[in-house]
Amino acid sequence: MSGASTEGKPITCVAAVAYEAGKPLTVEEIIVEPPKAHEVRIRVEYTAVCHTDAYTLSGVDPEGAFPSILGHEGAGVVESVGEGVTNVKPGDHVIALYTAECQKCKFCLSGKTNLCGAVRATQGKGVMPDGTSRFKNKKGETLFHFMGCSTFSQYTVVADVSVVAVDPSAPLESICLLGCGVTTGYGAAVKTADVQEGDTVAVFGGGTVGLSVIQGAKLRKASKIILVDINDEKKKYAKEFGATDFINGRTDLKEGQTIVEKLIEMTDGGLDYTFDCTGNTKVMRDALEACHKGWGTSIIIGVAAAGEEISTRPFQLVTGRVWKGSAFGGIKGRSEMGGLIEDYKKGKLKVDEFITHRKPFAEINEAFENLHSGECLRTVLDLQNSPCIC
Ligand SMILES: NC(=O)c1ccc[n+]([C@@H]2O[C@H](COP(=O)([O-])OP(=O)(O)OC[C@H]3O[C@@H](n4cnc5c(N)ncnc54)[C@H](O)[C@@H]3O)[C@@H](O)[C@H]2O)c1
Ligand SMILES: [Zn+2]
Ligand SMILES: [Zn+2]
Repeated sequence: MSGASTEGKPITCVAAVAYEAGKPLTVEEIIVEPPKAHEVRIRVEYTAVCHTDAYTLSGVDPEGAFPSILGHEGAGVVESVGEGVTNVKPGDHVIALYTAECQKCKFCLSGKTNLCGAVRATQGKGVMPDGTSRFKNKKGETLFHFMGCSTFSQYTVVADVSVVAVDPSAPLESICLLGCGVTTGYGAAVKTADVQEGDTVAVFGGGTVGLSVIQGAKLRKASKIILVDINDEKKKYAKEFGATDFINGRTDLKEGQTIVEKLIEMTDGGLDYTFDCTGNTKVMRDALEACHKGWGTSIIIGVAAAGEEISTRPFQLVTGRVWKGSAFGGIKGRSEMGGLIEDYKKGKLKVDEFITHRKPFAEINEAFENLHSGECLRTVLDLQNSPCIC
């Protein structure tokens, strides 16, 4: 426990509230209750906006609850902790984790997955593990949590299993991106796929996630790394992050040729690894079918619209292609984040390069609009030094 003057008391601060699906966020003052047992209150310094925030705000996320405080790519400083918290203390620099790691449940102990069952049920309902929320607006209405993080608020409360303390010398403004996109792509390449020297790789979708797959594959010395996108603006990023080839999946094909045929032709029979970083189920099928017979593995990272299904002919799997998925890059947030931060500090892992836009927190709705522009990878919002507009 700290001697912070706010400890044990509700804090009034600025947050961006999602009141209704499909509507802009409302930047206003809210009240954040103190953390209960096994909870941590964080002063959020920086957050980025990820497609999953936009997906939920659009109203198509079956788990989306309103009114709520979105945001899950954030970093800050622990303000105070509830009873029984031992993994972080006030003053620690931290990253919020939407994929918790309790280190005790069946999943955590399996050694086979980074998924954790500890807070999954309540997290999906937008509440803390005791079934209640720590947020309310000035009218006294309860606001839901989101993905166990809710980083679109100057203060947030998370479960202790959903936060990791990090090296304080790493800039929070950059490492907030390790809360989702960069870690997801990089982990998918180096952990889920475990790409090896000489492997051939194709990445569908050159956003933050896809470009991070590319940087992981490059680090592993893949012999060919092909970025497939439908936006030519991604060509410059493909080079910058280490791709050897760029294909525009709509305009770089011969008449009558499919993207699958083109990739198979370029790689003497197909790829060792492919990654879907688009969320489009047709692309997922192409990614699988572009894999080499006998061993090629395709990894689904993209989040498809609610109700969508994937399909292929079973023969594709019978003949040795493998379909896999990856959440948060297979990375265990509490035990492995330290290694990623070290990689970042050594210059092995690019993070700063993804920050294409910076904005004061009050302009968060523009950050959502930026998501649709080709040159925007990530917009980082500064929560503490923003002029308040309320
Ligand atoms: N599994 C996870 O843990 C996890 C975590 C974070 C994000 N995601 C998901 O990963 C996906 C990528 O995230 P992002 O932030 O990089 O998104 P992004 O929108 O920045 O990037 C997507 C890219 O795909 C390209 N694209 C769209 N349709 C295409 C097509 N038909 N063929 C080829 N390229 C196409 C777009 O031009 C864009 O460059 C999203 O679906 C996101 O929700 C999953
Ligand atoms: Zn995300
Ligand atoms: Zn667990």
